[in-house]
Amino acid sequence: MAADKAVMVGTTRVDPSEIIAGCQIITLPKIADIRGNLSYVEGGRHIPFVIRRAYWIYDVPGGALRGGHAYHKLEEFIIAISGSFDVVVDDGRERQVVQLNRSYFGLYVPAMVWRQIENFSSNSVTLILGSLPYSEEDYLRDYQAFVLARHEGRK
Ligand code: TYD
Repeated sequence: MAADKAVMVGTTRVDPSEIIAGCQIITLPKIADIRGNLSYVEGGRHIPFVIRRAYWIYDVPGGALRGGHAYHKLEEFIIAISGSFDVVVDDGRERQVVQLNRSYFGLYVPAMVWRQIENFSSNSVTLILGSLPYSEEDYLRDYQAFVLARHEGRK
């Protein structure tokens, strides 16, 4: 991957301009209640796409890596529903590490951004909302081909 530039997010909202390649930390509504907190997300309102798919990653063994690819068209919103993990986003020139550790904010990742998810805590649950149905043809799984496509402005 390209040069590393870390952004620690923690519980603090980060200025979206600090995230590369159009990625954004988005803080969601949080309805605090003595019975327990409630957060929610509406596609096209809190996140900049209509939600066409949801999938989740769980029972992750220690040290495992997920992702390791980009998409031609798919936009995603990644939430740590439980536990924590790091999302490494890479635009082919630089990369940043965003730690997600609360369920009331998430990371928006547009198309043509390489991402890897790592450093999962035990019992973490990752919820990913997507703008399109699953399609293997939409994946870019070759990093050098991704970098070349980015440099040439291809999608
Ligand atoms: P992949 O996207 O490579 O996983 P990661 O979360 O590590 O990026 O998907 C792993 C496998 O699951 C692959 O065979 C494709 C399949 N899959 C689906 O069938 N539907 C889906 O919505 C997703 C995300 C994956």
